[in-house]
Amino acid sequence: QNNRTLLIAGNWKMNNDVQAAATLADELVAALDGVDNGVEVLVCPPTIDLTTVAAKLDGSAIKLGAQNVYWEAAGAYTGESSCDMLKSAGCTYCIIGHSERRDYFHETDEDQNKKAKALVAAGLVPVFCCGEPLEVREAGTYVEHVVAQVKAGLEGLEIADPAQLVVAYEPIWAIGTGMTATADDAQEVCAAVREALADLFGAELASGIRVLYGGSAKPGNIAELTAKPDVDGALVGGASLKAADFSQMVVKS
Ligand code: G3P
Repeated sequence: QNNRTLLIAGNWKMNNDVQAAATLADELVAALDGVDNGVEVLVCPPTIDLTTVAAKLDGSAIKLGAQNVYWEAAGAYTGESSCDMLKSAGCTYCIIGHSERRDYFHETDEDQNKKAKALVAAGLVPVFCCGEPLEVREAGTYVEHVVAQVKAGLEGLEIADPAQLVVAYEPIWAIGTGMTATADDAQEVCAAVREALADLFGAELASGIRVLYGGSAKPGNIAELTAKPDVDGALVGGASLKAADFSQMVVKS
């Protein structure tokens, strides 16, 4: 048994315009009304929807996060949003280092390091994503791959409380494919991530940092995943776009 609060986080990715985001947020608030099983709930809409969703979540326990951030405070960075802008919109969390950002938008470990430090300095909680591609899984070097991402992305980050950081292990071959890693696969890598966090922040802090699993997490597999000792919840893509599915995952965690 550990003292970590389970976290179910929804990554909406590039889905839902302002009207659809308002509808989904209303449906989520209604579906989770009265659910009080101690599981923390977070939704991460597209940036354009943040203020709309924040208004809908007001008064509920559902937290708001962004899907990306730039590390500079302000200035000539066309298209980007700063930590303070995300805070002003009602965010308390921000996903960084998602494989889609790394792959499609060529973000590096160094970029994640700057983002993580800027977020923590601004009082926002990074949800730091890591995970291996299929060829690394098949080569059997996936633990080394993920540990290297964690150490490069989080080196030099200073936190005083484990609530200041969340890590999400998302094997790329399981994202959007319906090929969920087994609960044992998830446990193996989440435990290795926790050891890397202990190297970075000390065993005490590492024991309190939530490590999530992401990659085709669904209502049908969430209970088995979160039953594992080092799996502290899920970062959910597709299943977060349906209030019934996402609320079921909260209930079943
Ligand atoms: O960030 C979560 C996402 O990558 C997982 O996507 O659709 O496999 O749940 P999905």
